[in-house]
Amino acid sequence: MSLFPKDFLWGGATAANQYEGAYKEAGKGLSVQDVTPKGGLPEPGNTSPLITEEPTADNLKLQGIDFYHRYKEDIALFAQMGFKVYRTSIAWTRIFPNGDEEEPNQAGLEFYDNLFDELAKYGIEPLVTLSHYETPLHLARKYNGWASRDLIAFYERYVRTVFERYKDKVKYWLTFNEVNSVLHAPFMSGGITSPVEDLSKQDLYQAVHHELVASALATKVGHQINPDFKIGCMVLAMPAYPMTPKPEDVLAARQFENQNYLFSDLHARGRYPAYIRRFFKENQIEIQFAPGDEDLLAQHTVDFISFSYYMSVVQAHNPEAYSSGQGNVLGGLQNPYLPSSEWGWQIDPIGLRLVLNAFYDRYQLPLFIVENGLGAKDVLVEGPDGPTVEDDYRIDYLKQHLLQVAQALEDGVEVWGYTSWGCIDLVSASTAQMSKRYGFIYVDRNDDGSGSLNRYKKKSFGWYQKVIETNGQSLYED
Ligand code: BG6
Repeated sequence: MSLFPKDFLWGGATAANQYEGAYKEAGKGLSVQDVTPKGGLPEPGNTSPLITEEPTADNLKLQGIDFYHRYKEDIALFAQMGFKVYRTSIAWTRIFPNGDEEEPNQAGLEFYDNLFDELAKYGIEPLVTLSHYETPLHLARKYNGWASRDLIAFYERYVRTVFERYKDKVKYWLTFNEVNSVLHAPFMSGGITSPVEDLSKQDLYQAVHHELVASALATKVGHQINPDFKIGCMVLAMPAYPMTPKPEDVLAARQFENQNYLFSDLHARGRYPAYIRRFFKENQIEIQFAPGDEDLLAQHTVDFISFSYYMSVVQAHNPEAYSSGQGNVLGGLQNPYLPSSEWGWQIDPIGLRLVLNAFYDRYQLPLFIVENGLGAKDVLVEGPDGPTVEDDYRIDYLKQHLLQVAQALEDGVEVWGYTSWGCIDLVSASTAQMSKRYGFIYVDRNDDGSGSLNRYKKKSFGWYQKVIETNGQSLYED
C-alpha cells in the first residue's frame, strides 16, 4: 500500500530565467540573469560572480530552452507523465520590464495567461514562484536591489498585478525562491550590485529584512485578493551534521542551521527569533524597522513551507582542518560517508527525511518539496523509439529520495507534494551550463549554444510516469 496520500501533488519544477529564453521579446526587460553568463555563484578565486555590462552571446539563459515558444509541446509532455502540479516562476521583467514602472506590460501578462490556460487544459495545478533569482536589472543597478527599501513597493505593485490577473487560475504561490540564499549570493538572489567584499553584515541583514517584509506583504495582499490562495515561503534546506561528536562541532552545526531557520522562523512565526538577536548584537547589526513592519511580519505568516533539497553538509568549529565540499550556494565540509554528484554535491536521501521532520516538528505547517534532483551529464543514445538517455543514476537518486519522503509521511509529516527540479533540461543557475542536466526530458542544446532544441524522453520519463500513475507504489516494486 502506497504511503502517499491520494491527493499528493506530483510534478516538476522550473524557473523562467533558466528555460523561457526570448529574453527581450514582447517587451521583456533585462533581469540580473541576463548579465551573468557564468552563473550566479562566485567564479573560482573570486568573491563575486562575473557580471557583464550588457547581455553577451555566451549567456545560455538568453535563449534558455526556448520554452517561451515551445510551451505547448513541453506541457503536453508533462501531462503525458501525469503531472498534477507544475512549478514555474513568473519573470518579473515580462510584467514590469524595469521594475519601477506604473503600468504593467500587457504582452507579458498574456504570455502567462496562455501558459496557465494550457496547464488547465490538462488539469495541472500551477505552483508559481513570484521571484526566482530574476530581479529586474534596472532595480539592481539603480537601487542596489533588495539593499534598498524601495524594492518593497515595486514588488508589491508587481505581486498585486499578477495576483489580480491570475486569481482564478493560480492557487499556490511562493514569494521568493530560496530566500535564504541572499546571504550567500547577493547579486543572483537579491539583485545587490555591491561587490561581496564591500557588503557589510548590516547591509545584508537589512536586505533580508526588506525581503521578509515584502514576503509578508505579498501574503497579506494575496489573501485579500483571494482568501483561497495558499502562499508559502521557499527556503534552501540543507541539514548540517557535526564533523565529530565534539560539543563544539555540534554547536557549529546548530549555528549553521540557525542561519537558515531564521528565514522559515520569520515566515512561519512572524518574529525575529532569540538566537538571531544575539547574533545581531555580537555583530553590531541593527535592523531598521519602518512603522508597521513588526505587525506585518506577525500577522501575515505563510500557509505552508516549501523548500529545495539537494544535499546535506558537515560543519565543524575548526573548518580549516578539513577539506571543504562543493555545493549548492551555502557551502560546508565534505562528508566522508556520502557519495557526490559530478558537481560535488553530496547525495543524502536520509537528509530529506530529516529536513521534513525538522520543519514539521518546528512549525506543524504543511510542507511542499519544490526542488530535488540530480544534475548529471547525460549521453544521448539511439533507443528503439528514437534518441534517449539511459539515466538509471537519476532514477536511483529520485527513488531513494522519494522512499525517504514516504518514511517521513509514515513519521506523520504532512507533505502536500513533490516537484522534481528541472523536469525538462534547462540552464544551470550556479554555473549557467546546459550540460548539468536534471530532466526527464532531454533538450538538445550544448554548452557552446549549439543544438536543435529537440526534446527526447529519457528512461526516467517512463519511470516517473509510473511512479505518479501508481501514486508511489511502483517505488517499492522495481
Ligand atoms: C536551486 C535553484 O538552488 O538549485 C535553482 O532554486 C537551481 O534555480 C537548482 O537551478 C539547481 O542548481 P544548479 O546550479 O545545478 O542549476
